[in-house]
Amino acid sequence: MKIPDIIIAIDGYSSTGKSSLAKKVARKFDFLYLDSGALYRGVTLFAQEEGLISRLGTVNPGLKDALEGLDLHFGAEGKLYMGPRCIEQQIRSMEVSAQVSPVAAVPYVRAWVDEMLHEFGRRGRIVMDGRDIGTAVFPDAQLKIFMTASEEVRAKRRYDELVSKGESPLLEDVVKNLRERDYIDSHRETAPLRRAEDAFELDNSDMTFEEELAWVQGLIQGKFGIL
Ligand code: DC
Repeated sequence: MKIPDIIIAIDGYSSTGKSSLAKKVARKFDFLYLDSGALYRGVTLFAQEEGLISRLGTVNPGLKDALEGLDLHFGAEGKLYMGPRCIEQQIRSMEVSAQVSPVAAVPYVRAWVDEMLHEFGRRGRIVMDGRDIGTAVFPDAQLKIFMTASEEVRAKRRYDELVSKGESPLLEDVVKNLRERDYIDSHRETAPLRRAEDAFELDNSDMTFEEELAWVQGLIQGKFGIL
């Protein structure tokens, strides 16, 4: 199935499976996949390593100037690099997850990330996942999906993901982190998480991955009149 050179925006709450779905859709239709959350995570790791964020998540205004010297880019297999160093594993840790939302709420951080996202968007044929892709980054995206799932399902997914990466989190900490991130992400002033009016909502609490894919495929076929 050949689909036009569009931008597909997949937004939604934490751990709803956005990246798994986005990656699969990208592979299926030969699109580029871009994980915008990875960039916010990369900036957070940078702020932590530079001592520009307190334990409680207060961001030092010095981060603004420091960002000018930050090189974040995607390397082979879409892994995130900071300069020559692959930071893919570190950015998925609980330490980074615990502080990424306050960092992502800072307007100049969002402007810095948005510039990179817009650059990728110029190429078209892209699936991007995040929190504000369909509302703020690419409000004209031709297909928007907004993902939700029950808290229980999301916490279990995130917990299993961390365990599979060798971490030993407490389930209650995972739940606490999800709640805090969703709260901060949806209540910040700049580009808060919300469903775009023209986004199709996908609640995958009781769906298999195959069912999700079939749903997206049906959506694309219907929207672009492809058989
Ligand atoms: O998708 P993720 O869990 O890796 O995203 C990490 C954080 O980055 C998330 O808590 C909020 C922020 N984020 C954002 O504010 N806007 C985006 N487009 C993507 C992520």
